[in-house]
Amino acid sequence: MAVQINPSILSADFARLADEAEAVRGADWLHVDVMDNHFVPNLTLGVPIVESLSKAASTPLDCHLMIEDPDRWAPQYVEAGAGSVTFHAEAAAAPVRLAREIRAKGARASMALKPATPIEPYEDLLPELDMLLIMTVEPGFGGQAFLDIMLPKIRRTRELISKHGLELWLQVDGGVAESTIERCAEAGADVFVAGSAVYGKDDPAAAVRALRARAED
Ligand code: DX5
Ligand code: ZN
Repeated sequence: MAVQINPSILSADFARLADEAEAVRGADWLHVDVMDNHFVPNLTLGVPIVESLSKAASTPLDCHLMIEDPDRWAPQYVEAGAGSVTFHAEAAAAPVRLAREIRAKGARASMALKPATPIEPYEDLLPELDMLLIMTVEPGFGGQAFLDIMLPKIRRTRELISKHGLELWLQVDGGVAESTIERCAEAGADVFVAGSAVYGKDDPAAAVRALRARAED
């Protein structure tokens, strides 16, 4: 299972996004947290910034949409240049139709689950997805403590992926750091989002390498 490290620009300097993207050269994807102040109590950025960043950055964009009505908005993020678009299960009116639309437009389709949302009701949807994101904090802010109580859900999800013989990636997001990444990897995650544990460090590229080394252990 190949390990991927996706730095979250939520912890970067928003006035210098192109430079901050370059600062994590060697990362697999840039994780872009889109928040609308409705689905989560925070507001970040939207389609125009994603469009500019996708042209400026050499790393592909992994857009995590923490927004209401992703059925309406997610396709626009594909058109803006995102290589992967994640919508929340709790917000999507028609997740199968939306995943198919994202794929048809040429991006990887991904669905996220908040901590209190179980994976089991979505078992039959997994073949429609390229990635499943398990939140390991309540979405909305960077720098929160990792929720250990999510480890069994990561494990159960990995078992479902294996049972169905699927290729989909299993991403974790929230509180991922050198102290927690090994537990996530051991439970079956293979794509790791890290904000403060990368951009909070003096050398973000070295932080990416250190996280990768721990996850590959
Ligand atoms: C939180 C966001 C995360 C956030 C993670 O709602 O989805 O991507 O940037 O930040 P850290 O790694 O600091 O917990
Ligand atoms: Zn995120």
